[in-house]
Amino acid sequence: MRYDELVQPQRVHGSLYTSPEIFADELAKIWYRSWVYVGHVSEIAAPGDYVRKSIGPQDVIMSRDAGGEVHLLLNRCAHRGNLVCEADKGNSSSFRCPYHGWTYRNSGELIGYPFPQGYGGRGKLDELGLGRVPRMAVYQGFVFGSFAADGPSLAQHLGDAAGEIDRLVRLSPEGEIEVKAGWLKHRARANWKLLAENETDGYHPQFVHASIFSVAESGIGALYGEKSTAVTRALGNGHSENDLRPEFRRLGAPLGWFGTTEAKVPDYVAAMRALHGPAAEDILVEGAPHVMIFPNLFIAEISMFTIQPLAADLTVQHVTAVQLKGAPEMNRRMLQQCVGSVGPAGLLLADDTEMYERNQVGVAELRPEWLDVRRGAHREHVDERGLTVGGATDETGMRGFWAHYKELMSA
Ligand code: FES
Ligand code: FE
Repeated sequence: MRYDELVQPQRVHGSLYTSPEIFADELAKIWYRSWVYVGHVSEIAAPGDYVRKSIGPQDVIMSRDAGGEVHLLLNRCAHRGNLVCEADKGNSSSFRCPYHGWTYRNSGELIGYPFPQGYGGRGKLDELGLGRVPRMAVYQGFVFGSFAADGPSLAQHLGDAAGEIDRLVRLSPEGEIEVKAGWLKHRARANWKLLAENETDGYHPQFVHASIFSVAESGIGALYGEKSTAVTRALGNGHSENDLRPEFRRLGAPLGWFGTTEAKVPDYVAAMRALHGPAAEDILVEGAPHVMIFPNLFIAEISMFTIQPLAADLTVQHVTAVQLKGAPEMNRRMLQQCVGSVGPAGLLLADDTEMYERNQVGVAELRPEWLDVRRGAHREHVDERGLTVGGATDETGMRGFWAHYKELMSA
């Protein structure tokens, strides 16, 4: 496949969204090679806790062993390949395969098999165990895995996107977020890249989300207009953000980014001021990031999404409310806002998903073959960090995504 022909600076080919062959190539070159976000340490807070997660179509068990170590194990019995873990989450020191009863410690080692004489006795299969994601690394509690035994470190992969995760966790009076609100799963008959590209597309909200902006009397729509001082930034390595801080600073109101006031969350504001002193004012005004971390983690201020590709035209979007450790007043509101916008009857994600699915049908049409991603290219600039910055409604993030995509796929 000639990815340098399919991915051009200002246009990308429609087959990138529809071809099963390209999808298989993406699994090999992106999903099973690059760093992929898996889960958060707070989901397995106690020894023995486990949650079922994924890296693309791979079923991954994230567990915490008796000593507190975190493991990323593949959900596949070493005997004849059955699933060893059925529940979405739980607490157990071991996993027992339902087929022939082989049992594994929650750190992956095979610890027993029934009727051992058939193998010449006990302890004869020590080389077997659950498969393991070869590399795991944690940043601010966010657990990432990579199927590549070597390659760039997680710090290298995250690069300038790490600061956006920092911006999220510093909103907690204890400097940590928690993922404990439960997960919603939304299935979309669409290619995963339509979702990834849309996450920092500041061009669509005025149109796709007009209904929620009008009923909620939200100021969000104006952030994504031609007059907005917000910017879209390519953060490198395919990551991108809508940096809304210029608008929030202009507004100058603590928690204005969250559509609330300090009077409504007094304990939270007091805790932040006690912790940060005068620096708390900027933190409370600037709010949470809106960042897409390549290829599958999207932090949308109060909601956190992971993108799970299953086929060229099938993707599951997992979503949960961000919870700030030590901020119960905020957490209740964050949960409500999350459910109201991206829950089953939410007013935001359903509209995006409708666009993804219509888009998937559209890109299968044979002409004009290309999708245009040139918006704002003529008015970009490079900032003091060396990052490319465009206007609030520009496709700067998409172009950054595609540049990284082409690099990985051409390798
Ligand atoms: Fe798991 Fe046989 S497949 S014990
Ligand atoms: Fe949207």
